[in-house]
Amino acid sequence: MASLGLAQRIRIGLDGNSGVEFPMMDRAGRLNFGKKRVGFRVMASEGQSVEPDLSVTVNGLKMPNPFVIGSGPPGTNYTVMKRAFDEGWGGVIAKTVSLEADKVKNVTPRYAKLRADANGSAKGQIIGWQNIELISDRPLETMLKEFKQLKEEYPDRILIASIMEEYNKAAWEELIYRCEETGIDAFEINFSCPHGMPERRMGAAVGQDCDLLEEVCGWINAVATVPVWAKMTPNITDITKPARVALNQGCEGVSAINTIMSVMGINLDTLRPEPCVEGLVSLH
Ligand SMILES: Cc1cc2nc3c(=O)[nH]c(=O)nc-3n(C[C@H](O)[C@H](O)[C@H](O)COP(=O)(O)O)c2cc1C
Repeated sequence: MASLGLAQRIRIGLDGNSGVEFPMMDRAGRLNFGKKRVGFRVMASEGQSVEPDLSVTVNGLKMPNPFVIGSGPPGTNYTVMKRAFDEGWGGVIAKTVSLEADKVKNVTPRYAKLRADANGSAKGQIIGWQNIELISDRPLETMLKEFKQLKEEYPDRILIASIMEEYNKAAWEELIYRCEETGIDAFEINFSCPHGMPERRMGAAVGQDCDLLEEVCGWINAVATVPVWAKMTPNITDITKPARVALNQGCEGVSAINTIMSVMGINLDTLRPEPCVEGLVSLH
């Protein structure tokens, strides 16, 4: 079933019509379900309990609804992806995987807060966040096993593998073959992660370089047999340029956008950008 927010409730009217109710707010900002407007109506036969049909087909992928979880913490493992499907999400883009998870060094904590007050006083209102989470550090074998299990248990949902590799044709091909064997429905290519790992020519290092992007998209589309979306970085002067390159090279779609880079502060003793955890930073 499609998930609706707290502010909406499915209504089946006595007149046999169903709709989604949008309660009014009172002056104090409280939701009032007594007073309402009907947001839209779906005709239904009398007395029958129906839900609106939110199904969509995108690039041949039939989804029960258009709500798809972006790659990140909610796609880290089987448990959280299963939870997403159980809660009604139409699709999940899993956390980005690569062939050699042991090269990925994630640290904790991974978020920095930006506060409104001068000098970042702990009392200041939080006005921004920055994360320094890299791609998945779980063994690829484990992730693939979990993709397979999810597809077996939720055949009507869309599971998209997010992948990222080094500038190496054979590595990209191997990763694509191995992911496809699990039954995933599509690929999202991570050409956009701002913190990882440019020294290995991965993520945004490819998405910000149209020549590199063209070549890598060519490798991917020559072997992938399921739809491919290229995930764009916003950290570029003109996002339409890499988007055109990806589409011209055979990608079915582009996803926008990955993390916007920002500087959350500078440690004046070490001159290192925040967040700096265990000596590691994500700005280069
Ligand atoms: C903690 C964290 C981890 C993320 N990991 C990934 C990832 O592995 N792969 C990816 O493509 N995007 C990743 N993202 C980016 C998100 O998918 C999303 O593109 C980004 O947060 C911008 O969307 P938002 O403004 O809704 O947060 C991550 C974001 C966060 C906050």
